[in-house]
Amino acid sequence: MTSALKPRWATPDLHAAIKDHYDGLIELYEDLWGEHIHHGYWADGEPDPGRHAAQVRLVEELISFAPVPRGARVLDAGCGIGASSAHLASTLGCDVDGITISEEQIRRAETKAAEAGVSDRTAFRLMDAMHTDYPEGSFDVVWALESCELMPDKKAFLAECFRVLKPGGTLLVATWCARDDKLTSDESRLLDRIYRDFVVSHVLPLDQYRDLAGGLGFEDVRTVDWSGQVQDTWKLSTDIVKPVVRDPSMIWKLVRAKGMDIFRFLNSVPLMKQAYERDVMRYGVLRATRPL
Ligand SMILES: C[S@@+](CC[C@H](N)C(=O)[O-])C[C@H]1O[C@@H](n2cnc3c(N)ncnc32)[C@H](O)[C@@H]1O
Repeated sequence: MTSALKPRWATPDLHAAIKDHYDGLIELYEDLWGEHIHHGYWADGEPDPGRHAAQVRLVEELISFAPVPRGARVLDAGCGIGASSAHLASTLGCDVDGITISEEQIRRAETKAAEAGVSDRTAFRLMDAMHTDYPEGSFDVVWALESCELMPDKKAFLAECFRVLKPGGTLLVATWCARDDKLTSDESRLLDRIYRDFVVSHVLPLDQYRDLAGGLGFEDVRTVDWSGQVQDTWKLSTDIVKPVVRDPSMIWKLVRAKGMDIFRFLNSVPLMKQAYERDVMRYGVLRATRPL
């Protein structure tokens, strides 16, 4: 297997780096990305709705693909600052537990859920999604939107999803994937740079996720490749970095707060654009059912 398709960090180092990354860059992410820390979805032949609307569209497309039933009890595994959790609670009346390993994200998610009027339907907790403390069969849906690529042990994560789902419950994973397991050394190097800048463990080809889920006993495992629908996220890279370029004082404020890592963060945007253009990176979605 290509070397870039294996964990690149020891788990404690990775988790410390993820915590540091999301705790430290929380304001920057919100300023540049908005509350949704994930790709957007552009439907073929439709007018460009803009990046933020495209991010909400991705959430809606995932809700349909899973599908997420109205009133479901949902685990938002790797919840960021709770944008999906709040969306599921407000549009579908779901009861959502969001978990993340960043304390700052929890604080921000709680504030935002209160502002959105969904505090009574959401709870945010500091927890490793690969090993949770939820009793078996707790959730109707496990929702993992762009968090799986950060997990070093994909099998442990999917097994934990299986355990906490109720029989008949649905797993939904949307994750950065590799084209296949035959990457050149140059392509592997590109992924390595992306892993470092975004604090990602590693990516896998989508068919390996399908095999893993099937091997763990999931049924009705379906996958779809949405690379074509999401990759405009990175075409808009100038749009993402524009506020920083327009206001140099923001750069210095950020350098003082975050050190030179800020440049790595900004540089990572064109790297992702390149990864899609060279067909090294793909965007995979998987849904699967825990059997009754
Ligand atoms: C790219 S953000 C996506 C956030 C959110 N799903 C969204 O779409 O806005 C990745 C999230 O995964 C979380 N994460 C990474 N590894 C995790 C783990 N082992 N357990 C729980 N959360 C994790 C990070 O803390 C962060 O909240």
